[in-house]
Amino acid sequence: MNLSIVKLSPDYEFAPFDCNDKDLNEFLLTDAKPYQDQLLSTSYILEDNNSLVGFFCVSNDRLCQEDTNKWRKIKECVPYPKRRNSYPALRIGRLAIDHKYQGAGYGKKILDYIKIYFLENSPAGCRFLLVDAYLQSVGFYDKNGFDELPTDKPSNKTKLMYYDLHDIRKLMRFKRFF
Ligand SMILES: CC(C)(COP(=O)(O)OP(=O)(O)OC[C@H]1O[C@@H](n2cnc3c(N)ncnc32)[C@H](O)[C@@H]1OP(=O)(O)O)[C@@H](O)C(=O)NCCC(=O)NCCS
Repeated sequence: MNLSIVKLSPDYEFAPFDCNDKDLNEFLLTDAKPYQDQLLSTSYILEDNNSLVGFFCVSNDRLCQEDTNKWRKIKECVPYPKRRNSYPALRIGRLAIDHKYQGAGYGKKILDYIKIYFLENSPAGCRFLLVDAYLQSVGFYDKNGFDELPTDKPSNKTKLMYYDLHDIRKLMRFKRFF
């Protein structure tokens, strides 16, 4: 593997990309640049030996009490004097791996990268990662340390999941990711 993560730029030239999901393909190839131009999300491309393997996009967000009926799970992450009704978060808007590369560990590499990069480089406080995971990818996020947050109005397409960035600090003492 010769991995690199490249921030999308206006002149980035996409190679063909197909993750078997029309909406995600279209987002990358058609919408990612305009979204970025409007400062609504920022996309990053995962390349291996200069081939387009996958991508993700992120936006600033917050996790608040109204998002879930199990706020206790979140409350207990933070020591008592610092408890609030909302916490700063980063939302993973989209994440996909080209079908040729799925099942080879690239998705996990992307999540490891997001956890470490935004923990170490975020210029502002950011406690949680959030994702509205497609139902068929809940197992993927679960294996990568994300937990479900139940809501009173569950969607039939996605589940809200979160990762506490405090957890990655402990892991970083033992592992090298890239
Ligand atoms: C979901 C997706 C991003 C996973 O990426 P990937 O590179 O194929 O996954 P990885 O090879 O890194 O898998 C990491 C672990 O998660 C598991 N996993 C991967 N996809 C899974 C799924 N859909 N359900 C359950 N477990 C899954 C793998 O078995 C692996 O487990 P292991 O560490 O015990 O071996 C990718 O398959 C994809 O792009 N799918 C289509 C688009 C999509 O659904 N995106 C998610 C939008 S929320």
